[in-house]
Amino acid sequence: MKDIFLETIQTIAIRIKDAIDVKDIGYSQQENSSGETQLQLDIQCDLIIEEELSKITSIHTIASEEKEHEMLINESGKYYVAYDPLDGSSLVDVNLSVGSIFGIYEGDWGAQNMVASCYVVYGPRVEMIFAQTKAKLFLLQNNEFEFVKEIRLNEKGNLNAPGGTQQNWAPYHKEMVDSFFNEGYRLRYSGGMVPDLHQILLKGGGLFSYPATSDRPDGKLRKLFEVYPFAFIFKIAGGDAIDGINEDIMSLDHDHIHGTSPCFFGSKYEISVVKEVYARNR
Ligand code: F6P
Repeated sequence: MKDIFLETIQTIAIRIKDAIDVKDIGYSQQENSSGETQLQLDIQCDLIIEEELSKITSIHTIASEEKEHEMLINESGKYYVAYDPLDGSSLVDVNLSVGSIFGIYEGDWGAQNMVASCYVVYGPRVEMIFAQTKAKLFLLQNNEFEFVKEIRLNEKGNLNAPGGTQQNWAPYHKEMVDSFFNEGYRLRYSGGMVPDLHQILLKGGGLFSYPATSDRPDGKLRKLFEVYPFAFIFKIAGGDAIDGINEDIMSLDHDHIHGTSPCFFGSKYEISVVKEVYARNR
């Protein structure tokens, strides 16, 4: 299964890179399922992915962050693919990095059914992480992806990426974020989940948090398209991921395809601190 997904996502990444590299990224009148105004670019990237994934006969169903409903591809296929075509797309006009995220599930949606996960980051360079049994980094050069190395996180990092609006954080969450800064952690937050997590993965570790907030009790980030794919990658790379409530984020049941969850990704040390703080304040 791996090769066809790897090859297809590489083709998609090259097409999306070309789509981003235009003068007018125009806003459409449409909103996506999360109520965000869709860029024509979001819609275009969604269609590129739909077109390429539809060629894989082993795919049963796809679900996109930009589509309200899931879409049947092939009744006899076994894979369910959830994707966020262009995460952080509002950052394109200011020329910050953005990404595409893919979660590959077998049999049905749900974290425990995930068999592979992948994301592409479009920055000064185009890079991809594909994880199945290992998290592998690929770099786009001369229109071809080349394998660079396997990604492994250290036990402890020194980057802190705290998401959400501070005035809506719980007091214990703020104390925890501050405690990392007091330990010497450095702030690294661009507002794009893909580059922010990519930085933590490639620099050896740290913490990315998007907690439950007073205005968003279920967090902001979407489980199928964002949370599970990154949780899968962080765990395979020797780090960890939790939602602050359950013991294992990968044991959560699937509800709505656009359902969200609080989430924390990091190396082992930072996640153990989050677990301890959140258990104390539950
Ligand atoms: O998917 C939404 C997203 O753009 C993520 O890429 C990013 O991590 C997050 O929202 C940023 O949210 P906020 O601006 O609330 O910190």
